[in-house]
Amino acid sequence: MERSISLYKDIITSPHTLIAGTTGSGKSNVMNGIIREIMLDYTPEEAQMYLFDPKVIELEDYRDTQYCVRYETEFDGMIEALDELIEIMNERYHSMSGQHIKEYQGTRIYLIFDELADALTAPPLKTIGMIKSKLQVLLQKGRASRISVIAASQNPNREIVSGKLTINFTNRLGLRCVDESESKAVVKRKGCELLPKYGKALYLSPDGFSEVKIPLTPNNWELIQRYRKVRPVPVATAQKPVFQPKQNDTAASLIALFGLGLMLFGLLGGIL
Ligand SMILES: Nc1ncnc2c1ncn2[C@@H]1O[C@H](COP(=O)(O)OP(=O)(O)OP(=O)(O)O)[C@@H](O)[C@H]1O
Ligand SMILES: [Mg+2]
Repeated sequence: MERSISLYKDIITSPHTLIAGTTGSGKSNVMNGIIREIMLDYTPEEAQMYLFDPKVIELEDYRDTQYCVRYETEFDGMIEALDELIEIMNERYHSMSGQHIKEYQGTRIYLIFDELADALTAPPLKTIGMIKSKLQVLLQKGRASRISVIAASQNPNREIVSGKLTINFTNRLGLRCVDESESKAVVKRKGCELLPKYGKALYLSPDGFSEVKIPLTPNNWELIQRYRKVRPVPVATAQKPVFQPKQNDTAASLIALFGLGLMLFGLLGGIL
């Protein structure tokens, strides 16, 4: 049954989402759609984003928006950012303790991770281990502290989806997959291998299973412009007088020099 849900709204109000599909199946298109929904639904005070973009080009447009706290393309930077998120998560837990509330009520934080597979296959083993274990902590404990992981991945089968990492992805969006086994790894059943190249997906969430339409995400440029960070002028630069000789100043200096020369010439003439 095809459900015309507001898919992205559902994703951004759910704990953690995995988006998987083969190259060109539209993972980045979905990521852009999700980010668009965040920017339309929440102000930068209500929602913040940590963007992990190992491919460098996919999420770069958002790095200068007021929503973006960190934009990381290098694995070491990702580890630092994960540490920061875990610290925030722990602080939030701490602030909630004794208050009898199930979910933190403040700013939502999204870790938007394009190409999770890259980070779990490309770096040295030690780095992979660190990324995996820190991500695991966030996936297990992030939901109550309003920290959501939204990750896109190729090759869902081997390194990622079959691992214990994926158990905590409460929501799964399966785009076109290579074969049945990949489809099962993402949405726990076959079918993604039969989807068109892009435009449709199978969606598994705590509310059930459905086939969903995926629209082409409109260009987010206008939203990006609206929320562009206004960089304050650095104090040191603001106070420092900037000396820029104007053309007139240069001419005046030349005339003064010429005058001085004439005076000296006259003086010398007088002495002699
Ligand atoms: N829902 C869609 N409707 C129409 N066109 C789409 C849709 N999804 C993707 N496309 C087209 O397919 C192209 C590839 O999509 P996208 O870059 O999102 O795929 P991807 O899965 O992220 O690929 P990669 O694995 O290479 O990163 C897009 O540039 C777009 O032109
Ligand atoms: Mg992509």
